[in-house]
Amino acid sequence: MAGTGDRRIGIVMNGVTGRMGHRQHLVRSILAIRAEGGLPLADGTRLWPEPVLVGRNAAKLQALAEAHGLERWTTDLDAALAEPDAEIYFDAQVTSGRAAAIRAAIAAGLHVYTEKPVAADVAGALELARAARDAGVKAGVVQDKLFLPGLRKLDRLVRGGFFGRILSVRGEFGYWVFEGDWQEAQRPSWNYRAEDGGGIITDMFCHWRYVLEEIFAPIRSVQCLGATHVARRFDEKGRPYECTADDAAYGTFELDGGIVAQINSSWTTRVFRDELVEFQVDGTEGSAVAGLRRCRVQHRSTTPKPVWNPDIPATEDFRSQWQEVPDNAEMDNGFKAQWELFLRHVVDDEPFRWDLLAGARGVQLAELGLRSWADGRRLAVPELTL
Ligand SMILES: NC(=O)c1ccc[n+]([C@@H]2O[C@H](COP(=O)([O-])OP(=O)(O)OC[C@H]3O[C@@H](n4cnc5c(N)ncnc54)[C@H](O)[C@@H]3O)[C@@H](O)[C@H]2O)c1
Repeated sequence: MAGTGDRRIGIVMNGVTGRMGHRQHLVRSILAIRAEGGLPLADGTRLWPEPVLVGRNAAKLQALAEAHGLERWTTDLDAALAEPDAEIYFDAQVTSGRAAAIRAAIAAGLHVYTEKPVAADVAGALELARAARDAGVKAGVVQDKLFLPGLRKLDRLVRGGFFGRILSVRGEFGYWVFEGDWQEAQRPSWNYRAEDGGGIITDMFCHWRYVLEEIFAPIRSVQCLGATHVARRFDEKGRPYECTADDAAYGTFELDGGIVAQINSSWTTRVFRDELVEFQVDGTEGSAVAGLRRCRVQHRSTTPKPVWNPDIPATEDFRSQWQEVPDNAEMDNGFKAQWELFLRHVVDDEPFRWDLLAGARGVQLAELGLRSWADGRRLAVPELTL
């Protein structure tokens, strides 16, 4: 419960019956902040988030609200935006519905926090960024991978100069998403339909933009080969549909300083890794392998000298030659950590750099990736400004 001295803030949360909206944003972030008694503010009081759940299905919303002891839900977005205490609009609905809802929220004078991709294309994303700027509202875009413990440790290694000169980054992201016939699919069917905003390039390149640029260096060019490896899947009702969107992307990115990054993103691969995403970074002084939570390193001084000999079984246990990087800090849920920063940005005016322009940069990389695939060529990544 909120205390008497608390500052309350109404947050209109759209798409909270979905995978991300429910688990990561409502339960693991907003409700987790409430479970901790609210978010401590600069003046010593606490901020108490008051979610207003918004969606299309009244029965689902009501059940969700009841399950979490919440009272406020509606299928009418405009009514929610007009609630007197509503200060923030949050969007985790299907990507294709996002831009129109954000536009309405900005017009209603609310601050905006949103999942990625912020819009279907760069022009639409920039239009939202300009609208927020002109209306004087604050805006933030989810860039959760930066808050993963594994990537935070990797970032710490880069800042600490561990790698010497960084040569390359190799990322593997993915897992097998079931087709939906003999086993239920673990991702929504719209992900596999281009006309509904699906596709792994649109989904993942937004992430790779900020991961590569915030941890390493600006991206100068992109080359991408996409594929729709599985042509037919089965939707939530068990009906077959044709897949019109890419389910795998093989991307190469040139970064400032001559760093070459290659990232495979796939919903059609089986995991033989320790985590669902892993990045290997090789530098002149050392290498690291970072995943969602873990990060392991090998310094040049402890690098063994393997000799190529296919005639005998491997003589070394290569994985055991790496050292674990310790947490050395509290590593909270990444979505919650970013929510806390955004709430402090809104209420205490603390800085927050992942705004709608940052979101537009993510969309730009996805758009260029798609075009690179269509044209079969490498494309420069031009500077994006408002
Ligand atoms: N940051 C991340 O790591 C991450 C991961 C996955 C998804 N996402 C983003 O989150 C958003 C939601 O993804 P999700 O996987 O939770 O999707 P989901 O299908 O599970 O949820 C979609 C939500 O949108 C609502 N919706 C509104 N109009 C809809 C329509 N026409 N069809 C289907 N649903 C509709 C649904 O009711 C539901 O609440 C997407 O924009 C996606 O790109 C982000």
